[in-house]
Amino acid sequence: MKITIIGAAGCIGSCAAFNIASHALADELVMIDGKEDALKQHILDLSTAMSEKDMIIRAGNLEDMKDSNIVIMTAGAPQGIVTSRMEFLTANLSLFKDIAGKITKLCPDSVVITVTNPVDPFNYAMYLLSSKHDRRKFIGYSANDSFRFRMMAADILNVRPHRVKGIVIGEHGETQALIFSSLRVDGKPITVTEEFRQKIKDQIPNILKTMEAHKAKTGRTAGWTCAMGLATICRAIKNNAREIIPCSSILDGEYGARDLSMSVPAIIGKDGVQNIKILKLAEDEQEAVTKSINHLATYMNYMKENLGTKK
Ligand SMILES: NC(=O)c1ccc[n+]([C@@H]2O[C@H](COP(=O)([O-])OP(=O)(O)OC[C@H]3O[C@@H](n4cnc5c(N)ncnc54)[C@H](O)[C@@H]3O)[C@@H](O)[C@H]2O)c1
Repeated sequence: MKITIIGAAGCIGSCAAFNIASHALADELVMIDGKEDALKQHILDLSTAMSEKDMIIRAGNLEDMKDSNIVIMTAGAPQGIVTSRMEFLTANLSLFKDIAGKITKLCPDSVVITVTNPVDPFNYAMYLLSSKHDRRKFIGYSANDSFRFRMMAADILNVRPHRVKGIVIGEHGETQALIFSSLRVDGKPITVTEEFRQKIKDQIPNILKTMEAHKAKTGRTAGWTCAMGLATICRAIKNNAREIIPCSSILDGEYGARDLSMSVPAIIGKDGVQNIKILKLAEDEQEAVTKSINHLATYMNYMKENLGTKK
C-alpha cells in the first residue's frame, strides 16, 4: 500500500502521517510539502520513530505520487482566523486544479481523501477534475463532526464517549444535520428530550469559534482528531473492511442530493466509498438535511462554473 500525503509538514498532514505509520497502514509513505525544512525535520523524526517497522517513509514532490493507492490532500493556503470554512473556496482553487491534474496523470485509480476546507466543495472539485469520474474514489474527510456529536451526547448523558454512537449528515459546517435518531448507547437506541437536542444544537455554531480561538494562540487545528479518522479510513480501504464511516461522498440521489458532496454514512472498502447506508430519518431530520443540501448546492455550482470541466 502506497500512501501520499500532500501538506505533510502541516498540522493535519504530520499528525496523520504519524498515525498511519504507527499502525503500519502503508508500505511506502510519501510526504509532500512546500516547506522543505519543516518536511525534512518531520521525515527524520518519523522515520527514526518507525525504524523498527518495515516501511519506507520519504519526502517527495508531486511526481512521487505515482502509483499511490491513497492520496491524502491536506495542503491549503495559509490560514488566519477563520469565521467560515467557505472562506478558502477561491484561495485553494488553483492548487486543487494543479494537484488533481497530477493525480489524473500519475495515479488515476487512487482513492483521494480531501481534508482541505471547505471540504465538501473540494471533494466535489477533485471528482469533477478527475478523468474517470468514479465517485467511489473520492472521500471528503468529515468524521470529526460525528465524533463531536458523540462526545456532546455522552457529556449530557453522563456516560463515557466510547459507549455512544451517532452520526451527522450534511455539510462539514454550520448547516450540518444532527441525526438524533441514530444515537445509540451500548448499541441500544435512546430517546432524547427536546432540551437535550437544543443543548447540542446550541453548541454547533460555537465549535468553529472555539477551535479558532485556540488556533489564535497555538496555530494548531484538529490534528489528532483528523489523524484518528484518517487512519480509520485508510485501514478500512487497506482491509476492504466495508466499515461505516461518516465521509463527505459524491451523491447520486441518496438522501435527496445529486451532483453534490456531503457527509453521509459511507461504507468504506477497497475502492473507497463502496456504498452509502441509507438511514431512516425522522421528518425534521430529513428537513435539516435538505436545508444543508440547498446551502451546499451554491458551492457545488460554483465549482462546476469555475473548474471548466465537462461533467
Ligand atoms: N476536514 C476537516 O475536518 C478538517 C479539520 C481541520 C483542518 N482542516 C483543513 O485542513 C487544511 C490543513 O490544515 P492544517 O491545520 O494542517 O494547516 P497547516 O497550515 O498546518 O498545513 C498546511 C500545509 O500545506 C502546505 N502547502 C500549502 N500549499 C502547498 C502546496 N502547493 N504544495 C505542498 N504543500 C503545500 C503548507 O506548507 C502547510 O505545511 C486546512 O484547509 C484546514 O482548514 C480540515
